[in-house]
Amino acid sequence: MALERVSKILKMADEAKTSVIAFNCINYDMAYSVVTVAEELQKPVIIMLYPEHNYGFNNADVRGFAETVKSLASRVKVPVGLHLDHSSDFDYIMKAIREGFTSVMFDGSMLPVEENIRLSKKVVEVARNFDVDVEAELGRVGFAKDSDEDNLDLYTKPEVAAEFCRETGVTSVAVAIGSAHGVYLETPKLDIERLEEINRATETPLVLHGGSGIPNDQLEVAFTKGINKFNVGTEFFQLYYDTVFEYMKAHESERNVNLLFDMSKYVQDKLMAYLREKMKLSKF
Ligand code: 13P
Repeated sequence: MALERVSKILKMADEAKTSVIAFNCINYDMAYSVVTVAEELQKPVIIMLYPEHNYGFNNADVRGFAETVKSLASRVKVPVGLHLDHSSDFDYIMKAIREGFTSVMFDGSMLPVEENIRLSKKVVEVARNFDVDVEAELGRVGFAKDSDEDNLDLYTKPEVAAEFCRETGVTSVAVAIGSAHGVYLETPKLDIERLEEINRATETPLVLHGGSGIPNDQLEVAFTKGINKFNVGTEFFQLYYDTVFEYMKAHESERNVNLLFDMSKYVQDKLMAYLREKMKLSKF
């Protein structure tokens, strides 16, 4: 089927009291593996592009990425969403919308709340004209290497979340409740009580970032308490890297160009084994 609206997938997740998993991808091998396993398990899924992987590293072309995901989605029956991850650049967000992204994140989490509200609202007003969904961030999820997940000052405040969602009209909001991006120095502990309070304060679907390394038992609880979208990047990239490394090492002495072509299949199989386990958390 055609790409599904992320807002619709979030509604399905909310009704099922679970979370869709959104995976950061940089290329066909990753996106193909995600869509194939989603179809196999009959679960909705979201594929995300992190802007820096495009403009910083040239790993992906925005239009090419959108077309690839559209094409993959057209071959399966499960809903597949396409989302632009963290951007605070209005022009870049507009570019992604023009090139076919059906959902974008405006990340104003570094700004004072009033400014975050003003700009998130502006993005919503523009995106609405293109039937594009908007995720925002309130509080600051931050980085695991800086132990930001322990900094209570960065956590989302329930009463502010209520006002933020009412004022901006965003489709979903990423909350800071004890997760952080990257590799955790210590096992994180989600603030489930705060999550429940935020969830009571607003009808807007909540998003959990920094998904790599959070223990499954905590995720299972969070998914029943308002988290409807769960972002995973680092551990998926790490597995990709480790798999390429392992493949190269196993064939170190051969130096045969055909190994390059064979590598995709090898990588996809490993990624799919991981995805089969990970997506079990998503209880559609
Ligand atoms: P990790 O890279 O920590 O899994 O976080 C991904 C994420 O939140 C993308 O927005």
